[in-house]
Amino acid sequence: ANRRDLEGRRVVVSAGGTREPLDPVRFLGNRSSGKQGIAIAEAAQARGAQVTLIAANLEVDEPEGCDIRRVSTALELQHAVAEVAPGADVVVMAAAVADYRPASVSESKIKKDQSDDGLTLELVRNPDILAGLGHAPHAGTVLVGFAAETESDDARLLALGRAKREAKGADLLVVNRVGWNEGFASDENEVVVIGDDGTIVTRAHGTKLSVAHAILDVVVSEATTAAS
Ligand code: C5P
Repeated sequence: ANRRDLEGRRVVVSAGGTREPLDPVRFLGNRSSGKQGIAIAEAAQARGAQVTLIAANLEVDEPEGCDIRRVSTALELQHAVAEVAPGADVVVMAAAVADYRPASVSESKIKKDQSDDGLTLELVRNPDILAGLGHAPHAGTVLVGFAAETESDDARLLALGRAKREAKGADLLVVNRVGWNEGFASDENEVVVIGDDGTIVTRAHGTKLSVAHAILDVVVSEATTAAS
């Protein structure tokens, strides 16, 4: 596409998945590859935006030409967001952020106890970064969240997305189904974008780059509506 409709806009995208350390050699992570977030960063750049990519453990190459902040844990991601989100025109939270982290990180490698047949980990809640942005004043910033759900029933998937948009105070929420074989590592994606009033603003499927452009189409029309 040859659109330059994000010329001069500042776009922040988080991509990838956080890793929460247990000890020096282990972490709790997730299967997010970062592909959809990177596609959004690339699409926004192609449309003229100045892009900051907050990259959490990407499994694919970083795009060229954007400002990249590498983070690993949810708390690091939160810190990076706090630095770059204020004043941004668009913030897209595509990263899969761990809801919990180990309550303590062991200084040395955790050893198995020969007499034990199991181990219980204590986890504490991570801050919800998107909700933090959504519940603070953010006039002039279009806030986009993602919901990756394993729900197979379409109506229930949409209901989850609507509830999540509301709970997080996001302007737009992109719902996509994930599972063992769909969503994360794939080069294709299928999404539904839910808008302010809970309505479906658009549906898109195809390559992650084409899905990225479809999401940005909605973002651009939101930004235009908000400004007028
Ligand atoms: O609650 P759930 O993890 O499904 O919400 C997904 C959305 O919220 C994504 O946009 C993700 O980046 C964001 N999120 C966040 N902080 C968390 C958990 C999720 O910003 N601790």
